[in-house]
Amino acid sequence: MSEGEGQGERKPRVFSGMQPSGEAHLGNYLGALRQWVDMQNEYDCFFCVVDDHAITGEFAGEALPTRTFELAVSFLAVGLDPSRSTIFVQSDVPEHTELSWLFNAVTPVGDLERMTQYKDKTARLSSIPVGLLNYPVLQAADILIYRAELVPVGEDQIQHLELAREIARRWNARFGDVFPEPRALVSGSGRILGLDGSAKMSKSLGNTVSILAEPDEIRERVRTAVTDPQRVRRTDPGRPDFCNVYTLHEHLTDPALLPDIAEQCRTAQRGCVECKGILADAIIERFAPFRERARHYRENPEEVVAILDDGAERARSLARETMAEVRARMGLDWRKGLSR
Ligand code: TRP
Repeated sequence: MSEGEGQGERKPRVFSGMQPSGEAHLGNYLGALRQWVDMQNEYDCFFCVVDDHAITGEFAGEALPTRTFELAVSFLAVGLDPSRSTIFVQSDVPEHTELSWLFNAVTPVGDLERMTQYKDKTARLSSIPVGLLNYPVLQAADILIYRAELVPVGEDQIQHLELAREIARRWNARFGDVFPEPRALVSGSGRILGLDGSAKMSKSLGNTVSILAEPDEIRERVRTAVTDPQRVRRTDPGRPDFCNVYTLHEHLTDPALLPDIAEQCRTAQRGCVECKGILADAIIERFAPFRERARHYRENPEEVVAILDDGAERARSLARETMAEVRARMGLDWRKGLSR
């Protein structure tokens, strides 16, 4: 339980967000969602579809509503539970963007230009939208507006979290102690490589599989997965430690089967095609309840809307409290300020 003295029964607060790229995929599941689902019992969780972040990269306004909805369906499908967690869409709580503007006052441009993700994303751009530079400021606002203490993220977000801590420190130093410094909770699954065995799993690279895919599609996608490159012929011994399919087995297959899978690979008793069939079966079984729940929510979209409305309302009342304090301390609550 919480160590904080005087906090009574309050559970530590968690915030995390995911960009709306439509249905979640295997990489989202292994790298984030699986962990989010588990955190719901122990923490006061806020899980957000970050659509305001999505407009910093390339995007199509017409496609965004469906992507936002579909990611929310995926959240619910994997087992994020609106009775325990606050599940909402970022743009429904405009206080996030308001706070990010106020954080601009304490964030040096140099810090933002140093972000690895910013450098990667802008490397080939001739014209850089300022939103790409300010992306981590909005991310800091997402977290700090709820005074969240813990943020489950992938390794690629550690730098953004460090910046959020820095922003909290700088703001507190100038305006008073309002924000706790949030800690990153990096998922144990490390970097999940795509089925191509080389790039990070991502929908745009086509090297993954949707968590809502039908069994045939899962089998078909997994069949194309790249295995140990040194195992050229069926009779060559394989090296599980160098095989991305084996890594995926470690995340998804019944642990009791792993020693056999490794052994059959090393001794070339089982071919890669069959080995991938076992992985596909594990994924199909794991995702079955997700497909079931997603079907329900797609047939009843008004339930999803109601859940997100409710989440936004809960989130917003907290966000408003923080903003009232922040605005006052920064001198933006001018009517009250006059009478002091
Ligand atoms: N930048 C995160 C990512 O790409 C998404 C995100 C936005 C986020 N706001 C957040 C993650 C706040 C954690 C906390 O994965």
